[in-house]
Amino acid sequence: MKLIKTKDYDEMSMKAAQIIINKVRQNESATLGFATGGTPIGTYDLLIKDFKQNCTSYEQINSINLDEYVGLHSTHPSSYRYFMHNQLFKHINISPENIYFPDGTAEDLQLECERFENVIQNLGGIDLQLLGVGQNGHIGFNEPGTPFHSVTHVVELTENTRKVNSRFFNHINEVPYKAITMGISSILKSKHILLLVSGEEKAEVMQRLLSEDVHDQLPVSVLKKHPHFTVICDEKALKGVKV
Ligand code: PGA
Repeated sequence: MKLIKTKDYDEMSMKAAQIIINKVRQNESATLGFATGGTPIGTYDLLIKDFKQNCTSYEQINSINLDEYVGLHSTHPSSYRYFMHNQLFKHINISPENIYFPDGTAEDLQLECERFENVIQNLGGIDLQLLGVGQNGHIGFNEPGTPFHSVTHVVELTENTRKVNSRFFNHINEVPYKAITMGISSILKSKHILLLVSGEEKAEVMQRLLSEDVHDQLPVSVLKKHPHFTVICDEKALKGVKV
């Protein structure tokens, strides 16, 4: 695990964007794994800025997103597909046919999970997977207790996750109870994993990541086993943490 400490959120975003931009420049047909949530927004803003200023091209890039709510259509403003479209995809020259999400409206969700897992494999795996972490250590929607061998699957969201994510909805009642997420073993197959951690509310999970052994009650801990795992973390998320 490589830990990069930054002064603040902006510097974290800058370093993350630089890693992604370098990957795209080295391999114009790379497969990038993207994440939603508040943490990567600054990074996406910088990718857009770089695209406009330096014309870094995403024309042949494939993108795979980690997860999607069950029951939300891509036109729903709180769906992850909609989020990614607005925060990044509509601002760069990525080809719509190269954008992959689990379909939370599929009639047969089990079949959809299998289809999505095959998509990842058929693209040759993910070259660089961007991740955030939940306060309880979840990655994607893999909540504590998720087996490390899990592939793409349907999850019941914990009440805490629904509450935390309700900020992206008008009301908590609108937050779906289920989602499709890439599994922990699907995530671990990525060639490089880039975890972004920012803010005081993540200091406890950061402390746990750095001090606890790998165990399934702290899903993010499994990333420490990955040979190419980078954490970019700001000062607030390291508050009180001994490193
Ligand atoms: P956040 O979400 O970036 O909004 O903190 C991270 C997560 O829950 O995985």
